[in-house]
Amino acid sequence: MDEPALQAVRARLADARKVCVLTGAGMSAESGIPTFRDALTGLWSRFDPMQLASEEGFRADPRLVWDWYAERRLGVRAAQPNAGHMALATFAARHPTRLTLVTQNVDDLHQRAGIVETIRLHGDILQDCWLNACPRGRHCEPGAAAPAQPPRCSECGNLVRPGVVWFGEMLPPAALDAAQHAARESEVMLVIGTSGAVWPAAGLAQLARRAGAYVVIVNPEPSEIDAQAHAVLRGSAATLVPALLDGL
Ligand code: APR
Repeated sequence: MDEPALQAVRARLADARKVCVLTGAGMSAESGIPTFRDALTGLWSRFDPMQLASEEGFRADPRLVWDWYAERRLGVRAAQPNAGHMALATFAARHPTRLTLVTQNVDDLHQRAGIVETIRLHGDILQDCWLNACPRGRHCEPGAAAPAQPPRCSECGNLVRPGVVWFGEMLPPAALDAAQHAARESEVMLVIGTSGAVWPAAGLAQLARRAGAYVVIVNPEPSEIDAQAHAVLRGSAATLVPALLDGL
């Protein structure tokens, strides 16, 4: 661990009135949740991401996609927040107005660690949604769907899908606006465990930097947005995030 660099970032965090944290799949890696691509193993290795994570793929083979998400949901439910999630939650509880947490992760580990207000850019894998707007204009809950794989409306056949953002879909506009606002307002932007390859989330670091924030990346590997950072800390989220935040 680069101790002087770590202490320099701790000092920035201690002084910052606004901290924006962006997390990616690496945040949950030590909780045992594989990244999307790492999860394409075993039986799933013969499928293309577009088949498993797009509306076209779901419409073409709803059962296949439902089964894939059912397996991932089991993995999320079985996982526990790691020391990095806990350190962020402790900091958020101590300084309720200072930290805004933005995540690309569809798991609920930040919430289970205790952070209630999280900006979720890519949705929630545990949530059920209707595939189509209800043709009868009813506002029934997907929980009312008839059991099948995937569940469907017993009257119109509308299918239930997971509440994640699939390839080709827009991010929820309110979440993206809130994330961009938090990035612009921040004095320190901490980017943890993301490859920086998926936009528009990857643009938040640049937005923060242009608005004057000190940008820090935590990642054991190079990311596509390292050039946007004032400090790059090489290491894992469960080790470095507590080292950065504990005691602040
Ligand atoms: N601690 C911190 N970072 C880690 C760790 C760890 N223990 N292990 C891996 N990483 C880093 C990897 O080096 C990589 O840079 O986490 C990053 C994971 O990259 P991606 O899998 O591309 O995840 P992410 O950046 O969150 O992807 C964005 O793409 O798959 C879609 O919608 C999905 O939200 C996801 C989006």
